Amino acid sequence: MEFTTLGRTGLRVSVVGMGCGGASRLGQAYGNSEAESVAVVRRAMELGINYIDTAEAYRTEEIVGKAIAGVARDQIFISTKGNPYKEAAPVSAGELVAGCEASLRRLGTDYVDVYHIHGPKQGQTQHVLEELVPALETLRTQGKIRATAISEHFSTDTEHSVLLDLFQADVWDVAMVGYNILNQTANRTVFPITQARSIGTECMFAVRKAFSRPDHLRAVLAELVEKGEVSAEEIDLENPLGFVLDESDAADLTEAAYRFCRHEPGLDIILMGTGSIDHLETNVRSLLCPPLPGPVTERLQRIFAHAVSASGS
Ligand SMILES: NC(=O)c1ccc[n+]([C@@H]2O[C@H](COP(=O)([O-])OP(=O)(O)OC[C@H]3O[C@@H](n4cnc5c(N)ncnc54)[C@H](OP(=O)(O)O)[C@@H]3O)[C@@H](O)[C@H]2O)c1
Repeated sequence: MEFTTLGRTGLRVSVVGMGCGGASRLGQAYGNSEAESVAVVRRAMELGINYIDTAEAYRTEEIVGKAIAGVARDQIFISTKGNPYKEAAPVSAGELVAGCEASLRRLGTDYVDVYHIHGPKQGQTQHVLEELVPALETLRTQGKIRATAISEHFSTDTEHSVLLDLFQADVWDVAMVGYNILNQTANRTVFPITQARSIGTECMFAVRKAFSRPDHLRAVLAELVEKGEVSAEEIDLENPLGFVLDESDAADLTEAAYRFCRHEPGLDIILMGTGSIDHLETNVRSLLCPPLPGPVTERLQRIFAHAVSASGS
């Protein structure tokens, strides 16, 4: 495993993070037993992953708690999240604190390393800054969280407008950012700020459906061409992004997608979500490979330079 420093938190984290949400939720979304999901997290730790991301909304905190039971607490970094709104009603500071305490009970720990406000949407930023940020400071003072963090709702906000709005206050230690081959907007707008302020960054959406299902990639690319965000001359819809495999040693586009993100200088941790031990092992190998060849990376940067609307979901 390779390790890096998560921005101003100073935490020495693995460059690969175990994502316990997304479409798979450790396989809970498609029928894994609890024991199978616990085994995925344990295998991740055996492979050297020391950063595990979950959320109250994922319903995988108890699984993470079981997986880390018996592991020295200072050998593992736990990240979780609380919702800013529930059923369209704003969550109060007291409810956020109580929600975090419930997360700690499910995780079987007395603190988490990173605590996020989970994916606020347009129109929710003032509530987050005025009501919930002070609650995060309360939690930090009480020793229940070590770092404050924000994750974005990337599938509905592909140009990071809410995240950028929340950056008006320099109160975030860590940010979870949507980034992938199809949507590289963060390196123009988000990363200059996170780098200037030493905000640690976690990448989500590196692969999603677009890079795990060829039909879906074809459909997303066709839409980007139709919207004029990508030139039709640059894309062969019969063999989407085939040049990446012809001109690199990547085994498939899933591997290429993870490697593309791993070597983006603005990103510290690449979160990888799966419920399959086979996929986990393959993805860790991919993420530890060298960058894609320079000409391939540059061509991907050029093709998608004006693509702003796809999340890859
Ligand atoms: N707003 C937020 O806060 C937010 C939103 C989304 C995600 N997240 C976090 O970010 C993490 C990563 O997001 P993600 O899980 O969507 O990301 P991802 O790693 O980009 O995509 C995972 C998807 O790809 C599939 N996959 C993974 N490896 C594969 C392989 N080798 N071959 C074929 N399919 C493969 C997985 O299915 P299998 O189970 O079949 O492998 C899963 O459906 C989440 O788990 C969560 O912790 C946060």
